[in-house]
Amino acid sequence: MTVEKQQPHQTRNYEFYSAQYARFRSNLAADIRREAYGKDLGQQGWRTLGEQEEIINLVNERPQGRLLDVACGSGGPSIAIAATTGGRLTGVDIEEAAIEQARILAADAHLPDKATFLVADCSQPLPFGPGEFDVISCIDAIIHLTDRRTVFADWFRLLAPGGRLILADACVLTGDISKEELDIRASQGKFHLVPAGFNEGMLEGAGFELRSCKDTTDAVASLAMRLCRARESRRDALLEEEDAIWFENRQAFLATTAELAATARLSRFLYVAEKPQS
Ligand SMILES: C[S@@+](CC[C@H](N)C(=O)[O-])C[C@H]1O[C@@H](n2cnc3c(N)ncnc32)[C@H](O)[C@@H]1O
Repeated sequence: MTVEKQQPHQTRNYEFYSAQYARFRSNLAADIRREAYGKDLGQQGWRTLGEQEEIINLVNERPQGRLLDVACGSGGPSIAIAATTGGRLTGVDIEEAAIEQARILAADAHLPDKATFLVADCSQPLPFGPGEFDVISCIDAIIHLTDRRTVFADWFRLLAPGGRLILADACVLTGDISKEELDIRASQGKFHLVPAGFNEGMLEGAGFELRSCKDTTDAVASLAMRLCRARESRRDALLEEEDAIWFENRQAFLATTAELAATARLSRFLYVAEKPQS
């Protein structure tokens, strides 16, 4: 009997965020965001313009509106929120290049005194005092943070009584996924997949009261497909900025993400939770 020699397994894990933020301000990157999202806010995940409006309203309802954006990326979406609500903004991200972008965008928006950005690992307790914030947002980044119990407990500490948490998790398991699909979907940095109902239990365990939980999976399906198409139509130009492997990995990531969302096997939920007044 002959046994076929197995090809070595190809892991598709690749340095995503540092490369992405290094090119973030290029005209090409901005054009792609404009085409896919409808407006370039410097967004990076699955936040539609409609959801951005919802978040603005949720922040506006909290007196003072001191906002902490956890894993803020380029800071663009939260700078737009602070510019509308007039509240103070603090943004934290692990990527230095992202925080550099955020500082530039805050200066462009004439918000340098009202917006502070710092580099930190948001899986660790953050360097702020108890009750310093009225709202904490974490949009499409919880999948990269380790140990949700510690993270949620820290957010609870940082919020003032009555403070609000706005959390989007795009990787809640609601169906079956093959290892090949998972390898591609999990190829951009640390990846934590949770079963349906897990976030609700962890939030309540940390002391939060869950106010709402909205299924926003359709937005992932359509934004991932729009990003994939916007990039494909600029293939030649992108290949001058990105190497071919990076380009193909990103396209595979977007196509797989769109497929997993369109078939509701991996879902995104937007949770709103509050710290009780007492
Ligand atoms: C999908 S992006 C979302 C960015 C932003 N929240 C938005 O809505 O556009 C995920 C972000 O998580 C950040 N990130 C990943 N691991 C992190 C960590 N351990 N601590 C802080 N930020 C982290 C990445 O650098 C990236 O900016």
